[in-house]
Amino acid sequence: MSFTTVAALDEIPDGGMKQVSVWGDVVGLYRVGRDVYAINDYCSHEETFLTEGDFEVEDLEVECPLHGSRFNVVDGSVRILPATKPVATYPVKVEGDMVLVGPRNDR
Ligand code: FES
Repeated sequence: MSFTTVAALDEIPDGGMKQVSVWGDVVGLYRVGRDVYAINDYCSHEETFLTEGDFEVEDLEVECPLHGSRFNVVDGSVRILPATKPVATYPVKVEGDMVLVGPRNDR
């Protein structure tokens, strides 16, 4: 599988998030220490960016800024309605200080 470098690790605050464009998609990166998770940044309910919401680090969930749906940032699953469809996830590698993302998992 091919990976592409999308950010330096220190561009993402620990416990924070960053939006990047990769593989033709808008993707949200979520950092917890040296672990980084990547999910599609469009809420599956209506079109808004999840990285404009809140990252609840303890739960590994992001809360949509529009209607409050929550998605697990590890597997993209919906944790709180009104969204019903999961968002796509992307494989992530952290190599040294660089964050690399592979093609979305549902392709
Ligand atoms: S747009 Fe995200 S919950 Fe409605």
